[in-house]
Amino acid sequence: MDTLNLTDIIHWFNAIRNLPENQRYRALEGMWDTQLHSKKWIVDELNAILSSDSRNHNVYVFGGWIGILSSMLLQRSKFAINKIRSIDIDPWCESVADTVCKPYEMDGWRFKARTADMCEFEYEHNLSPSIVINTSSEHVDQNTYDVWYDSIPKNVLVVVQSNDFYDCSEHIRCVSSIQEFKTKNHVSNVLYEGTLDSKNYTRYMCMWIK
Ligand SMILES: C[S@@+](CC[C@H](N)C(=O)[O-])C[C@H]1O[C@@H](n2cnc3c(N)ncnc32)[C@H](O)[C@@H]1O
Repeated sequence: MDTLNLTDIIHWFNAIRNLPENQRYRALEGMWDTQLHSKKWIVDELNAILSSDSRNHNVYVFGGWIGILSSMLLQRSKFAINKIRSIDIDPWCESVADTVCKPYEMDGWRFKARTADMCEFEYEHNLSPSIVINTSSEHVDQNTYDVWYDSIPKNVLVVVQSNDFYDCSEHIRCVSSIQEFKTKNHVSNVLYEGTLDSKNYTRYMCMWIK
């Protein structure tokens, strides 16, 4: 996944431009090189796992932030995506993510951001999840993660990322190894596990069938 659509990139910039000046840097925090590489990692590994999968997937992204992963998935997945929902507890994220993914939001809400706590979220009727992604697992305590995980239906493809960046005050559930990651996140039936060097810290990711 090396190229992105110009139309989509224009909407990324619009999302920044539309914000009040004192909020623009906040949106740019989600666009660091390490952030983009970690999202590309998800797209690449999902493409490898699902390249010959014929289902039309409903994807839920938790801790979806400003919608960059959803935009990348909608542009570059080699598997069919019906709809994506991006859930974040921070209401500020909703309109930014909807602008980042504007072409898909306008296409009958193929993409839509939602504001909710992941552990209280109720999956939409008629939009049962087939892929559930959590890129913010280090931002929630173990109880929140466990309640969130329990609510995922069986046979869903689960993707979780975490990291060992303990120095960030918002990171309350980091891990130091892939083994610790697997234990804390209840990983079983592994389809992919790996690490990504992100300059000052390591990211961890597993993909598995619940
Ligand atoms: C700052 S982002 C970073 C995530 C990840 N490290 C990455 O690189 O993509 C973390 C997001 O998780 C969201 N978040 C934290 N707790 C949450 C919860 N309980 N439910 C949903 N979203 C949550 C925050 O609002 C924030 O937008």
